[in-house]
Amino acid sequence: MLTETSQIKLVSEVPVSLVLELHHRRLDEMLDRVEMDVEIGDWSEARTGFARFQVELEEHMRIEEEMIFPSFEAFTRSPGGPTAVMRAEHDQIRQVLTVLEGFLGDEQPIDEATLALEALLSVHNDKEERVIYPMFEQHAPPEACAALKLELRPLLGHSE
Ligand SMILES: [Fe+2]
Ligand SMILES: [Fe+2]
Repeated sequence: MLTETSQIKLVSEVPVSLVLELHHRRLDEMLDRVEMDVEIGDWSEARTGFARFQVELEEHMRIEEEMIFPSFEAFTRSPGGPTAVMRAEHDQIRQVLTVLEGFLGDEQPIDEATLALEALLSVHNDKEERVIYPMFEQHAPPEACAALKLELRPLLGHSE
């Protein structure tokens, strides 16, 4: 596990695309842990872990919607293009999060909803990592990259 200092160093020195990819992996692990807690019947821990996962994923999507997608739209001059699909996928992800939250609250099986969320995230994150992030990095002005890194820092610096 990285110390806070090394996380800050990581965020300031590595490309934003890599920081965002690392955050995808971190979110995957948080969801895996929720599934494991449900498997062993620890609903309270699962709900706590899920709440943390939901807050972090919401923050991740907010940063993309407010900072990355608008910049991508500006240089591709295509507000109805790929980012419209990405925004629609965020909405689908949010819908499944709400369903999952309900199942966890009622202590109902989460397998199907989790599978659906993992499938959505896998396709979505792959497109971001292959297309959106590299293009953002290539075209965004240095100030936009610096501002983005400032926003991302608390996400990776979050303690477990
Ligand atoms: Fe996204
Ligand atoms: Fe993302």
